[in-house]
Amino acid sequence: MKNIYLDYAAATPLDPEVLKTMKPYFTDQFYNPSATYLAARAVRNDLESARRQIVGLLGARPAEVIFTAGATEANNLAIQGIMRRFPDSEVLVSAIEHQSVLEPARLFKNKEIPVDPSGLIILNKLSNLINDKTVLVSIMLVNNELGTIQPLREISQILEKIRNQRRAKGNNLPLYLHTDAAQAGNHLDLHVSRLGVDLMSLNGGKIYGPKQSGVLYFKTGINLQPLIVGGGQEFGLRSGTENVAFAAGLAKALEIAQQKRPIESKRLLELRQSFESQLRRLLPEAVVNGSKNHRAPHVLSVTLPGIDNERLMMELDERGIQCAVGSACSASREEASHVLAAIGLSQDAARSTLRFSFGRFTRQSDLEKTLKQLVLLTAHNR
Ligand SMILES: Cc1ncc(COP(=O)(O)O)c(C=O)c1O
Repeated sequence: MKNIYLDYAAATPLDPEVLKTMKPYFTDQFYNPSATYLAARAVRNDLESARRQIVGLLGARPAEVIFTAGATEANNLAIQGIMRRFPDSEVLVSAIEHQSVLEPARLFKNKEIPVDPSGLIILNKLSNLINDKTVLVSIMLVNNELGTIQPLREISQILEKIRNQRRAKGNNLPLYLHTDAAQAGNHLDLHVSRLGVDLMSLNGGKIYGPKQSGVLYFKTGINLQPLIVGGGQEFGLRSGTENVAFAAGLAKALEIAQQKRPIESKRLLELRQSFESQLRRLLPEAVVNGSKNHRAPHVLSVTLPGIDNERLMMELDERGIQCAVGSACSASREEASHVLAAIGLSQDAARSTLRFSFGRFTRQSDLEKTLKQLVLLTAHNR
């Protein structure tokens, strides 16, 4: 039996078009883009056209995007890059951020913004937590465990009001909004001014591009402190010979993902809705986590009370069905997911929760087979 892969929120296979775009830079076009002969200058041009392709999709300017090795690095550069400039200030992060936001935030004065049981930021708590020393607010666009989509536009309007009040009081400390959009590239509009963000992290590994590829968008005027210094590449913000293959691959992957977005998002939403309704019918005790109306179509977090999620995940794996217990990065830890705790799930409920996530190769028949196994195995495991 072929594997049924239901862990697209952890990793996506490389799109063949992306591979084709990347290949020349491993062979004929291997030149260092900083060299000055013609062949190297052509590679530099390709790097810059990859950047232009990306900024075109984000509605940004070329000097506002730098290439990174994935979203973890982009998140670190956003948070540490700002907080090191304002070491006496404070950063606010949502309680359900990925570790690559939580951990850098913990290096500085930080507070966590609580979420409601559906995983949405509690907006009046956010307003109350912002004080005269807050310089950065980091709130993810789509949560990787729940799929919940945050109302960034509304959040950005709250921040704008606070900026105006500050200015009126003579406080000139900036107040920036960063978003980790690693889970959003296949399903949401990433136009930065429509989202209302000042900084945004993206990665290739979730959008059928190469792992360890990513970008940080940062609005003109933001003065980041680099984390990696050396030869001064990427506007002095990320030294090291540029990875043109990955930059070109990421640009192609993002272009394809955004092209496919309307049709693919609708297809996955329909698949997930049918999976959810069958699940409720066959296993009435199952609880679907996350927001009902504000959820990206590729994620389904489900609690099956009384079931040991690790065991069920392994039994599904033995039957060729690959899904996740929480997110891939917290899966190996002892403690239950901080995201599920933040939405109010008990440790027991969190240990009975599985994440299924869908993508380009997910078919109705895969979900039917998965449901059948879930029914058999849960009856057996109780
Ligand atoms: C929301 C979110 N942020 C950040 C990351 C880290 O991305 P990368 O592995 O590209 O560093 C992930 C990946 O798991 C993620 O889901």
